[in-house]
Amino acid sequence: MKKNVCENYEEACQAAADIFAGQLKQKPDSVLGLATGSTPVGLYKEFVSRSGAGKMDFSQAHAFNLDEYYPIRADHPQSYKTFMDEHLFDHVKFTSTRIPCGEATDPHIECDGYDADLEAAGGLDLLLLGIGHNGHIGFNEPASSYPLGAYMVDLTEETLEANSRFFCDGEKQPVNALTMGIGQIFAAKHIVLLISGAGKAEIVKKLFEGKLHTDIPACFLLLHPNVTLVIDKDAAQGIKS
Ligand code: PGA
Repeated sequence: MKKNVCENYEEACQAAADIFAGQLKQKPDSVLGLATGSTPVGLYKEFVSRSGAGKMDFSQAHAFNLDEYYPIRADHPQSYKTFMDEHLFDHVKFTSTRIPCGEATDPHIECDGYDADLEAAGGLDLLLLGIGHNGHIGFNEPASSYPLGAYMVDLTEETLEANSRFFCDGEKQPVNALTMGIGQIFAAKHIVLLISGAGKAEIVKKLFEGKLHTDIPACFLLLHPNVTLVIDKDAAQGIKS
């Protein structure tokens, strides 16, 4: 894994944006995997500003989002569909965007459809990942086995707790999610793992301690031939650069 330790979050977002800009220059119709959460917010700001300035062109690119809560209405303020529209898709034009549908009647049929769409697009050229405090990637939570294709997952207490900050007091938080599977993540030609903040230092340290922890889904990335870790100093404090 290549490591790019940046001074701060802003620099990390610039560095990650540079990788996406290079990818689009080389292949304008790239299939890009995109993530949600607080980490990508600065990166998407950078996409919007570079695209507005004519420095990045997403108009031929295809976007596949990693995951979505289930069940959730697409127009719910906390749906990942709403997040993506607000932070990126309302500002930057893509040829196509695909997010697992949180209001599908049958989640399994929706996952099969998502798999078929990703396969028809030719798989991911470049995938953006964050990491959860428990080592999840997408919504692949720690487990004893991991589906290769998209599936419906039970969110762990830890993830529910971490994400409860986004839901109003007393609001029913979805306890399931639809997520891209580990096989699809692993098949991405290049992965950018963007990590920021002291709160992630512990999981980052564990990830790089030289063991393949099967209960840390992010450990699969240690075996992938083309992952670039873009991390700020606060998150990287426990590892050698
Ligand atoms: P965060 O989430 O960016 O909000 O920390 C990352 C993740 O859970 O994958």
